[in-house]
Amino acid sequence: MSEESEKVVAVILVGGPTKGTRFRPLSLNVAKPLFPLAGQPMVQHPILACKKIENLAHIYLIGFYEDREFALYTSALSNELKVPVRYLKEDKPHGSAGGLYQFRDLILEEDPTDIIVLNCDVCCSFPLTDMLAFHRKCGGMGTILVKKVSPEVASEFGELVADSDSGELLHYAEKPETFVSDLINCGVYIFSPEIFIAIQDVKSARHDRAVLRRLTSFEALQSATKTLSADFIRLDQDILTPLAGKKKLYAYETQDFWEQIKVPGISLRCSALYLGQYRTTSPHLLAKSDSKGAIVSGDVYIHPSAKTHPSAKIGPNVSISANARIGPGVRLIGCIILDDVEIEENAVVMNAIIGWKSSLGRWARVQGGGDYTTKLGITILGEGVSVEDEVVVINCIVLSHKTLNRSVHEEIIL
Ligand code: GTP
Repeated sequence: MSEESEKVVAVILVGGPTKGTRFRPLSLNVAKPLFPLAGQPMVQHPILACKKIENLAHIYLIGFYEDREFALYTSALSNELKVPVRYLKEDKPHGSAGGLYQFRDLILEEDPTDIIVLNCDVCCSFPLTDMLAFHRKCGGMGTILVKKVSPEVASEFGELVADSDSGELLHYAEKPETFVSDLINCGVYIFSPEIFIAIQDVKSARHDRAVLRRLTSFEALQSATKTLSADFIRLDQDILTPLAGKKKLYAYETQDFWEQIKVPGISLRCSALYLGQYRTTSPHLLAKSDSKGAIVSGDVYIHPSAKTHPSAKIGPNVSISANARIGPGVRLIGCIILDDVEIEENAVVMNAIIGWKSSLGRWARVQGGGDYTTKLGITILGEGVSVEDEVVVINCIVLSHKTLNRSVHEEIIL
């Protein structure tokens, strides 16, 4: 087949409001995939990586959020990227493979040779062009992006064993209780259209088992509850595990950065990783010190509508969203400042996320210890939180619309 006719379709699994609950309070105001990392919605990073693929016909976001949550975003992005980006809503969660299967007719409409499937809650360099070349060379049904991690954390992910020469996936276990391998599944896949046959086979096998179970009235009762989930199919446990060792799946290892975005704290780390990546991919997005705005050090993103006082010092690893106002003498390090935040003079923010429309008074200090892996390792202020003058907030999570008029330390303020 000529390269011309090798069409690619990309699918990003965005989940829905009942997923991503560990991301609260940040997911209370905005669908988690739209939370900004390095100034761009989380889902935009994989979308931009897909856009670099030749002959990309379509990008689909599949989830069970309401249509309105993505409508404006997808129409604006389609115009900007000149690639159709469309949100497809499941009526209920069907699981990562089940969601994909629901929309197989649309995905296959343009007769793609390859289907890129991405979990939206991963942060990585998305080396899709090299991965696609590897996938086509191996000629399997699927290729999985994998990464070596330390054995202590491997069990939090899907662990796998691959042949060191061919890359063939030999064994796959999702979050195993005993150690299998330090090679983990990054949630980035390329499949050939036969993947739908594999999903269909799992569905049919489940259906057959359900019919067999209806032999006794007691079992009928049981199966009634089980058939509810008959079309709930997960990519990892239900598809990858049984296909391992059958010369159908291959592993492509990345040496680059990779993180899973499950809890709010990790978004600070991911924002910093993407800011670092801008140095090579999009240097125009990185702020520089100039006569109109603040003194910038290291990787910093400042939305064009934000106002920063020339005596404020910002960076490294800071991202400032639309219409934020940063006053004189303010110091910002390792933080995400969301839309419409106001920070008054000489306030300090470090290792913290400041929610939409929040305000920090003069000499206020909002800070976290910086350990992204612990619940209170960074400070998070929800929407519309007001921190009064001189108040110090350290290692706290503060839910929306609270006024802090006393200093707090290691507290969750509901
Ligand atoms: P855990 O949350 O720890 O189970 O981690 P995981 O990464 O294994 O998550 P999971 O397999 O549940 O989800 C992987 C990706 O698929 C994430 O981006 C989810 O948002 C998405 N996802 C999960 N379930 C569904 C679903 O039913 N439909 C859709 N469209 N996406 C889903």
